Amino acid sequence: SDIEKGTYPHYMLKEIDEQPFVIRNIIQQYQNEDGNLKLEESIRQAMKDTDRIYIVACGTSYHAGLVGKQFIEKMAGIPVEVHIASEFCYNMPLLSKKPLFIFISQSGETADSRAVLVQVKKMGYKALTLTNVPGSTLSREADYTLPLYAGPEIAVASTKAYIAQLAVLAILAVDTARAQGLSLDFEPLKELGIVANAIETLCDNKDEMKKIADEFLSTHHNAFFLGRGIDFYVCLEGALKLKEISYIQAEGFAGGELKHGPIALIEKDTPVVALSTQKQLDLNIRGNVKEVVARGANPCIISMEGMENEGDRFTIPAVHEMLTPLVSVVPMQLISYYAALHRGCDVDKPRNLAKSVTVE
Ligand code: G6P
Repeated sequence: SDIEKGTYPHYMLKEIDEQPFVIRNIIQQYQNEDGNLKLEESIRQAMKDTDRIYIVACGTSYHAGLVGKQFIEKMAGIPVEVHIASEFCYNMPLLSKKPLFIFISQSGETADSRAVLVQVKKMGYKALTLTNVPGSTLSREADYTLPLYAGPEIAVASTKAYIAQLAVLAILAVDTARAQGLSLDFEPLKELGIVANAIETLCDNKDEMKKIADEFLSTHHNAFFLGRGIDFYVCLEGALKLKEISYIQAEGFAGGELKHGPIALIEKDTPVVALSTQKQLDLNIRGNVKEVVARGANPCIISMEGMENEGDRFTIPAVHEMLTPLVSVVPMQLISYYAALHRGCDVDKPRNLAKSVTVE
């Protein structure tokens, strides 16, 4: 590849470290001279005209879509459904009267997503693509594009493109809210600046992540990731990262669902990573941790500054409660990276996986 790793042993680590710059680049790219959000008028109009948004994506981009649904519903008040592209394609849901489709794709070339785009364009609907590759197939064939500005992502496991997707989705949600005259107690560009600094702090302190990976994960064949609300979606992504590159069987669970099945899997020393960044859910998720500890699990609680309890393994710097996924995913990425390294896996090119999957 003509993109150099420089002094980095792996593209993945380089791309994790680039994340603060990616966020700062997005802040610049989506800002007018007057400091206001810069978005094409046609996109604003499409967001105003729709009665329901359908987000369609695969893999990590799908996980970004789950968080994006929260942003758009909570800030702009438009209902959002999030679909896995391959499922949507062959089991199309009933559509609303004025649907708008949002495709999220790092590469812009994923065949499963493209198959849906072709279908909905044939049906006469409008589509917006969020992609890291403007000019890609999904960008060209959609009506509108929002670029991610993350720079080329080489490692198969997606990192910086995910947080770029989240940042652009947050900007889109705020812009749509404002276009509808809703007042938000939220300056997105300022808050994203705080996020960039928080990610930088995490990237400057990797030792603890390496320790967690070595102690918790390197000798186990399975791992749990527990979260509630927006933290649950980050747990899905954390578990995907770990399985992709370390081949450890990992699953993200909604805390409340534990008792309905997954808790049966807990054995002595099962590693359980629990994420708590949302004040109103904190007691509940900590209750779930007690349940698994009572069955012998080995917990690793990741909380946020200002919410830490004794015994928490790691604390992320405080950011706006809506934007925590952009920061809380970073320890997950790093834990996965070090677990894979410890197990001697090929971090940048995991077995059986491709960076962009151009077959359905
Ligand atoms: C592949 C990659 C994943 C990625 C997914 C969707 O499976 O290995 O990392 O999340 O495709 O890719 P896209 O380019 O559409 O975001």
